[in-house]
Amino acid sequence: MSLAISVNGTRHELDVDPHATLLDVLREELALTGAKEGCTEGECGACTVLVDGAAVDACLLVALSVEGAEIETVEGVSGDSGVLSPLQRELVDLGGVQCGFCTPGLVMSLTALLRESSSPSRAQIEETLAGNICRCTGYAQVIEAVEAAAAQKATP
Ligand code: FES
Ligand code: FES
Repeated sequence: MSLAISVNGTRHELDVDPHATLLDVLREELALTGAKEGCTEGECGACTVLVDGAAVDACLLVALSVEGAEIETVEGVSGDSGVLSPLQRELVDLGGVQCGFCTPGLVMSLTALLRESSSPSRAQIEETLAGNICRCTGYAQVIEAVEAAAAQKATP
């Protein structure tokens, strides 16, 4: 069936299996493999992308349900320039990236948070991270990175 979506600012018209998930389409049709396939049950957050600005688990969404939507994946966060966003830079610098499997999903959830709130509270950050399982970092460095990125935005 036909599906029209915009991904990272580029419009795509695709012919998709009616049962395909958004994650399937991103990874298999568009070769955007940043969003990871973990649990496929909405538990781990490794597949998190933004749909019209909201963080969602791409493994749970039937692709046809996002017809016409604007999708953002981790590949679009730094854009064509390849320059890391302040959040990505802080995650790297502060040790918030270790094995990296969770990282694309974390970046997308936290990017949505930082757009909503220029100075999120510790509770808001923790609430956001509740949807993204990271088995390596213990989250402390990730939280520090979010706070450091927020502080950068606040600096004139
Ligand atoms: Fe989607 Fe785990 S793969 S939430
Ligand atoms: Fe390994 Fe998060 S860095 S799961």
